[in-house]
Formats: sequence, C-alpha cells, structure tokens
Amino acid sequence: MALPESFLEEVAARNPIEEVVGQYVALTRKGSNLFGLCPFHSEKTASFSVAPDKGIYYCFGCHKGGSVINFIMEIENLEYIDAVRFLAKRAGLEMPEDTTYRSTYRRQERLWALCKEAALFFHEKLSSSEGKPARDYLAVRGLTKSTVTRFGLGFSPDHWTGLLEAMQEKGYTKEELLDAGLAVRSQEKGAIYDRFRNRLMFPIIDVRGHVIGFGGRVMDDSKPKYLNSPETLIFNKRRNLFALNIVKKSKQGRIILTEGYMDAIALHQYGFDCAVASLGTALTEEHAKILAKYTNQVVITYDGDEAGQTATKRAIGLLEKTGVQVKVLRMQGAKDPDEFLKKYGADRFKVLLEKSENHREYQLLSLQSQYHLELDEEKVAFSKEAANLIATFSSAVEREVYGTRAAEAAGISPDAMKVEINRAFQRRIFQEKKKQESQILQPARTYQPKMKGMHYENLRSAIAEEGLLRLVFKEPVLLPSYEELPAEAFSSPILAKIYRALHTLADQGVVAALPALAGILSKEEMNHFSAVIQKQDDVITEEALRDYMEIIQQEYFRRKANTEKDLLTIRNQLKEKKGYGG
Ligand code: CTP
Ligand code: MN
Repeated sequence: MALPESFLEEVAARNPIEEVVGQYVALTRKGSNLFGLCPFHSEKTASFSVAPDKGIYYCFGCHKGGSVINFIMEIENLEYIDAVRFLAKRAGLEMPEDTTYRSTYRRQERLWALCKEAALFFHEKLSSSEGKPARDYLAVRGLTKSTVTRFGLGFSPDHWTGLLEAMQEKGYTKEELLDAGLAVRSQEKGAIYDRFRNRLMFPIIDVRGHVIGFGGRVMDDSKPKYLNSPETLIFNKRRNLFALNIVKKSKQGRIILTEGYMDAIALHQYGFDCAVASLGTALTEEHAKILAKYTNQVVITYDGDEAGQTATKRAIGLLEKTGVQVKVLRMQGAKDPDEFLKKYGADRFKVLLEKSENHREYQLLSLQSQYHLELDEEKVAFSKEAANLIATFSSAVEREVYGTRAAEAAGISPDAMKVEINRAFQRRIFQEKKKQESQILQPARTYQPKMKGMHYENLRSAIAEEGLLRLVFKEPVLLPSYEELPAEAFSSPILAKIYRALHTLADQGVVAALPALAGILSKEEMNHFSAVIQKQDDVITEEALRDYMEIIQQEYFRRKANTEKDLLTIRNQLKEKKGYGG
C-alpha cells in the first residue's frame, strides 16, 4: 500500500500502542512492559504483553502480535488501509491522497454500482413474461411477494448475453462484468457470456448496503443446485454473511445461523428477522468475529445430517472463542429450518428456539447419543468419555452441572462421576505441565516457532537469522547489503521474506518501522516477526551482527555443499547403472 512512510510514522506516533490497546484491554505494568488478558483468546492469567518502547504487542498464549496497526486490524476486523484510517481518525489526522488506494476505491465503487444495476435487472426480469417459471417456482417454495421485495430476489434469463448486453448499454465494460464475477470467459474461444443463466437470483448485500455478489439457484434438479459469485475485489466470502444487512437492525437479541439462503429467507418470512447464512462455505473465524460484534447469542441451526452436525461442532469451536453465548437448535421431522417452518409453522419453531441447548449440553448429548446406555459396558465407556469432555470445560460450575447430568444419563452416582471428572482434569493439567517442562528442558524445541504449520529446518541458522532480524530491526543502519548477505542464504522462507521486506523499505529510504512492515507482510508473518522481536534483548553491536552473519553463511554453504554432494552421488549412481564405470 502506497501510503507515505512519514504519514505512517505520524499515525503510529500519535497512537501510542499502550494507549490504544489500553482502550480494549486492562493493562498492568511489569517492568518496562505492560500485561493484560489477551483479547484474542480466552485466558485467566495475563499472557498478553505490550512493549511501548518497541511499539509492539505480543501474546505468549496465542502468539498473535504486531504493531498498533495490526492490533486494530485484528480487534476491529479491518483491512490494513482501514486500520490506518481508523487510527488516523483517532488522532485527528487527515488521510493523505493515496493514488493506489483511491484508484482501488474507484474500481470498487464501479463494481458496487454494476452489481446494483445487475440486481435491478434480475429483479425486473422476475416480473417480466420471461420470469414466469421463476415466479411459479417461488410460489412452490412459498415465498411471499413482500419477502421477494425485501430480499430483492430476481431471475436471470435463459440467455447467454442478456445481462452482458443490458449492462454494456448502461456503460459498463466486459472487463468490469468479468471483474464483478457476473460474466465468464469461455476457455476455448475466449467468448464472454453471462455467468448466471436461468436461475433464481439472491443478491448478497454487505452491511454497508452494497450489492457485492449473487447466489443463483436452479429451478429444477439440474446441477449445480447453487452457483455463487466468485471472490472479487468487492466480494469476500470469508467475511460476509447473507442477510446480515437486515439482521443488524433486528431487535431479537440473538442471531440464528443457518446453512442456506432459503433457510435464512424462510426464517425472516416467518418473523425471525435475525437469521443469516454463510455463503456456500463453512463458517470462518472472521464470520465468528463479525457475528460477535452484532450479538451476544448465536443459535446454530444447521441441517440434521452428518455434514451439518460436523459443521456444527466446528462452528461451536469458532464461536466459543469470541465469547458469545453459543446455542444449538435441534430439529426433528424436517431437514432444515425452511422445511420445518413450512411443515410446522413459526410457533413450533419458536418453541425449539427457546429450548435450544447451550453448546455444552449439545456436546454432551451428542456424545450420549453414540452409546447404548442400557448396556453396562457402554455406561462405563460413556462415563469415561463424558468425564474427558467435561474436564475440558473451563468453569468449575459447568463441570459440576454437566457432571451431574452425565451421571444421571449413565445411571451412576454424581459422586462417582465427579471422581472421574477430577481424574480427567488432573490428567489434563499434568499433561500440560509435562509439555511445558519438556519444552523448557529441550531448548531446541522451544526455539521452534509456536505458529501452527511452521517449522525451522535448520535451527542453528534460524536462530542466527532471528537474531539478525532483531538487531536490524532495532538498529536499521546495521542492515547488511544483499551482496554481503543475499536472502537465499536464509534457511527459513518466512525470515527470508521479512529480510527482503526490510530491504525493500530500505531501498525506498524508509526506516524499517513496524507500521510500514504491516503493509508488506501478511498477518501471520507479522505475528511471527513480533514473536521474534519479543524473544530477547540482544546487545546491539556490529560484532553480534558479524557472528550471526557468519553462522548463516556457514550453514548456507553447508546446505549447498550437501545438495551438490547429493547431486554428485546421484550422477555417479546413474553412471554405474549405465555401466560406464567410475
Ligand atoms: N450451496 C452451494 N453450492 C451448491 C449447493 C449448496 O453454494 N452446489 C450452498 C448454498 O449457499 C446453499 C447452502 O449451501 O444455500 C445449503 O445447501 P443445501 O442444504 O443443499 O440447500 P438448501 O439451503 O436446503 O436449499 P434448497 O432448500 O433451495 O434446496
Ligand atoms: Mn432447504
């Protein structure tokens, strides 16, 4: 992002990290750092730290970290540029005229306008003579006129270029239709045609009221049943939920999470104006955070089939982390809310909603349903598994309540269950302690990155690479030139990338400050870099730098030599095979 470095510095300087973070987290000073309860994962002891002198935050529990900009990105769920804007506003600064940003925004505005025009086009087609089959289909599905209007439903004609031509007449280019995901280019001939043909159209509208994409359903049994807009400049499936634009105004005090467009729409029609659907994808962490911004209670009403139940368990995990109250609605006699409402009506759904289980209860009952509790050995097996599950519940009250329930289900005494749970609980604590201890005893393992899916292949080199980056970050003038130390010499791809980023900034005459890095590195990379910076305080000397460089180079040559040796061995083996002799 081409925001001037001087501006980013100004933004960071006027938003001291301890002050900004302090508005979200209660911090207490310990030495030069501040500590508090991490806002990004639930915890009881403070492992979230802020280092005002370094301008970073870092959580020793969940390993998230970064600059004040990353913090705002994470906690306010904003893109980089919007986080900068947020902080600029907080400090009363004007955003500079940024050309890339402005042109991106202008392109977005065009696509929003185009999608709105397309939605109108589809909506009008629905009442035209061509739209008869779609109107008939809507009648079969039982959707009323006012629902159709409320959701702006439409119909895409059975024509290859209907929308394309209509939009071109309004001044949009083929390119723009492709960019909006409304048209596709054929592989063979390169011809451009409408993506959505002969489908019932569901416009997807973001919380700001922009039409950002569409879902389209066939009106018979052909495949695919639903076709959705692809990801575009304005449409991000991971961050948008169908109907949230309406739900955000709901007064029902909860959000009902469904699997499908039709479920959400049916719920609205039957008076539950708080239903959303994820967009043909599984619920994401972003979705969970967004939901938590709008409500304190989420009720999951996924399909009763196995896929739906697996998705429910996943969603529970994601939602639980955000701190919202999570409930699960169990349906019987229908596969999804749409079907249920049509069969049994709103009142019976309301009853289900009111008695929907909180997620603990759901987890326990799901487990229970896997056992034949009239058999003694299954009682024993269930009690053990239930104890293991309940031991993971963080509050003692929950362990007590669900322990009693599990005991009742298994037909054993609550005291016996309690003993089992305590045992499982102690076992867990013991295992966690042991894990911690073994990490302390094995420095090599503690040195491995804490981030999931990351592993240093060459630990000796990686430690030196980390050290070098730490030094250079604190004392940018020490940055070695590429001739002295090329990025290839780094054994860790992620550290090499950070090194390159520091060089890129240096080439632009920019001091490698975190706010500028946040614009180049991904969130994960920033997390990792923050962990690296946070690790220890080195003595900043050229000598330390030389030591690190030497280790990195030694290891680089060793790896290269090994590769060459391997190649040589392979060549010799090939020669022998062919009988050339050695
Ligand atoms: N979906 C999709 N692509 C498909 C099938 C489904 O994107 N080929 C998504 C859609 O968002 C759909 C949701 O998954 O709304 C749920 O699919 P499904 O349960 O099959 O459909 P229903 O919601 O029951 O839709 P309907 O009642 O219209 O059959
Ligand atoms: Mn359905």
